[in-house]
Amino acid sequence: MEKSKKQTVFSGIQPSGNLHIGNYLGAIKQFVRLQDETDALFCIVDEHAITVPQDPRILREKTLEVAMLYLAAGIDPKKAVIFIQSQVPAHAELGWILNTMTPLGELERMTQFKDKSAKSSKAGILAGLLNYPTLMAADILLYQTDLVPVGKDQKQHVELTRSIAERFNNRFGQTFKLPKELLNKQTARIMGLDNAEKKMSKSAESKNNHIALLDTPDEIRRKIKIAVTDSGSEIKYALKEKPAISNLVAIYSEFSDKPISDIEKMYFGKGYGDFKKDLAEVVVEGLKPLQEKFKTLEKDPEGVLKILRAGAKEAAERAGRTIKDVKKKLGFVL
Ligand code: AMP
Ligand code: TRP
Repeated sequence: MEKSKKQTVFSGIQPSGNLHIGNYLGAIKQFVRLQDETDALFCIVDEHAITVPQDPRILREKTLEVAMLYLAAGIDPKKAVIFIQSQVPAHAELGWILNTMTPLGELERMTQFKDKSAKSSKAGILAGLLNYPTLMAADILLYQTDLVPVGKDQKQHVELTRSIAERFNNRFGQTFKLPKELLNKQTARIMGLDNAEKKMSKSAESKNNHIALLDTPDEIRRKIKIAVTDSGSEIKYALKEKPAISNLVAIYSEFSDKPISDIEKMYFGKGYGDFKKDLAEVVVEGLKPLQEKFKTLEKDPEGVLKILRAGAKEAAERAGRTIKDVKKKLGFVL
């Protein structure tokens, strides 16, 4: 199929904290699959990361790390555009414009804002944290995106993006395509290893909450060994009754490419101990190719920067068309 006839896919990951298997299974694994069938753009959203204070040296390091993890996971710059958000100024420009049209109440209602702001005092909440979803809307709308592969926590932001786009189109005429979130049911919400009630998160307090993509095999084994389980001893996928084991079974299934029902059969009559031991090896092996590729990429940061600059150039060209149309419609003198 010709590129123009393919669906456009856009997604982004923040370069804050350590990427973990929740990010991988919920987002990156889908990116790799989608790059073959669609016209895909994958962004490292550094302007989103600074909505909470960042150490500049670490931000720079993490931005390159996310780029290398994209590449190490199998995103191919020949198939998809990989770029850094701040290298394409149209994102901040459209973000500002959308801010001027988005009611405060809609932003205050966002679950992620409520969660993140609950952690600070009112004086500590930055305006950018509230306005974060309008920047995300800009990211998506600039490329006339059809599909946004994300984890479940981002569904609400994509829905808001759709209503921002609709409102703009109604007022100024057809400008933006209406995007839709793309969730993988089995992995849209990978739960914490230390608490199956909460999602696995970069910002979790305990480092036993998640397996980072760059954790050593021993660390992976240790974290899985101490991961919480449920009462009983059966290895069964039953979200309500057995949330912790269901989470581990889903992780096993994704890393081994075995359907859940096969895993239940394999471990029929066996206990949590046996299952966890095997799961650890499945995850260690599953992450090995990515970790090896990462080590190679790390030796050539210039090569990675070159890929990112080329990506930004292409993204800027494409975003430029939309931002020009938007400015014209608003009455800005071009
Ligand atoms: P973030 O770490 O917030 O930048 O998220 C990057 C991507 O990973 C987004 O698409 C998130 O929805 C997804 N994601 C983050 N945490 C999880 C999780 N625990 N389970 C599934 N997807 C996740
Ligand atoms: N808000 C997303 C997250 O925290 C990151 C993000 C920013 C994003 N812009 C995006 C995701 C555009 C998808 C599309 O995970």
